[in-house]
Amino acid sequence: MSKSNQSSNSKSATKVQYVCSQCGASSAKWAGQCSDCLAWNSFTEMAMFSTGKVSARLKGYAGADTPTIIALQDVTTNHETRWTTGLEELDRVLGGGVVEGSVVLIGGDPGIGKSTLLLQTAANLSNEFNTLYVTGEESLKQVSLRAQRLGVEKSKIKLLAETQVEKILMLAEADGPKILIIDSIQTLYTEVIQSAPGSVSQVRESAAYLVRFAKRTGTSIFIVGHVTKDGSLAGPRVLEHMVDAVLYFEGEKDSRFRVVRAFKNRFGAVNELGLFAMTDKGLKAVNNPSAIFLSRDKVIVPGSNVLVSWEGNRPLLIEVQALVDETPLANPRRVTVGFENNRLGMLLAVLHRHAGISIHSLDVFINVVGGVRITETGIDLAVLFAMVSSLRNKPLSQELVVFGEIGLGGEIRPVQGGQERIREAQKHGFKTAIVPKANMPKKGAIPDIEVIGVNSLQEALTYL
Ligand code: TYD
Ligand code: MG
Repeated sequence: MSKSNQSSNSKSATKVQYVCSQCGASSAKWAGQCSDCLAWNSFTEMAMFSTGKVSARLKGYAGADTPTIIALQDVTTNHETRWTTGLEELDRVLGGGVVEGSVVLIGGDPGIGKSTLLLQTAANLSNEFNTLYVTGEESLKQVSLRAQRLGVEKSKIKLLAETQVEKILMLAEADGPKILIIDSIQTLYTEVIQSAPGSVSQVRESAAYLVRFAKRTGTSIFIVGHVTKDGSLAGPRVLEHMVDAVLYFEGEKDSRFRVVRAFKNRFGAVNELGLFAMTDKGLKAVNNPSAIFLSRDKVIVPGSNVLVSWEGNRPLLIEVQALVDETPLANPRRVTVGFENNRLGMLLAVLHRHAGISIHSLDVFINVVGGVRITETGIDLAVLFAMVSSLRNKPLSQELVVFGEIGLGGEIRPVQGGQERIREAQKHGFKTAIVPKANMPKKGAIPDIEVIGVNSLQEALTYL
């Protein structure tokens, strides 16, 4: 590269932009709070490269021959090849196994089980494929100790402790793994960028190298990304658009159960859930998920209510709790765990307007038991029942389940998978279900459970 060329590059590289380390939103000016994801103090400076420099850097990685325009009909597709990970619940979230040449991002809080899950997956896959586990966070010894704990120390996994992307990919190129695991993206760096590992530009650029490598060689890559609350590391969200699938770990660290949710999946359904329990020998699939989220005491307290939720492609029985109480504060609290706060505001408004029950001046706490997060609308009716039960201090029947969406007019709207939900409840011994009228099964279709269809909030509340 000639001298003049270099100086013109560095000149254009001085142009800066500010990028949110949580969600990747960019802005020309620095701001204290990101207007997209509302994270505080998350903007960091990032140098923008001229396109000339980018294309120079991509050489050898883009793998692009001379581009040509082609008719859609003429594109030949071989059916996507999928491999099972040996963990049924993970396969489910991935849409039926790992796709050849796909890049999967696995995000979650530190210590939630990402490395454990991937080491188990790697062990299973290494029986059949050349599998390379790159550790940037832990030493080879630590990984080997974990492998012993998981009982997979005899597997054929290959290990590499390295954090420079160029070196990793050079070695991978020579070794030719079919499965490549990167733990974690925040420890990686590329030498073409000056900033520290974990910064937005390093994370993005390193991931871009990995994605190009995957597409060019057909290697399937799993990338671990830590979610950090304080923005000191760039979050996995800055990568979401680059990869094929994004899976997030949910769940409380102190609870045994872990939920892996597909947040984006180019090869399968989103919102699919995988359920695991963390044991002393790693993550184990949970076979009867409903039983776990329902581990209720024999004594039923007011404000507790069971709902049949629809997660991914299966029904799940989940307990919702509400506590409605007088507040010592001028502004009553609205706290929700596992449930969207805005939706609670809406439910309170509907409850007041269409049922004449006012909770405006009281504290309201909503908790979805078991550390699951519910994003579907079928939970509305269950939350309302729990709140009213707590307000009146009257427990609901232990044998009752409810589900249904509530509209702004106080109407109860049907939800997806009505019949399957009722069947799941019946299977677990529930005797009564209150459901949207449009979700009513045909008479006698589901035995041993009394199904009550309701059209409006007022009608539903008469059964309380
Ligand atoms: P880890 O996979 O290291 O988390 P991450 O990579 O997401 O940071 O999980 C670490 C936690 O899991 C740690 O607190 C110990 C626990 N653990 C078990 O309970 N059983 C096991 O068999 C293993 C390997 C870890
Ligand atoms: Mg780890």
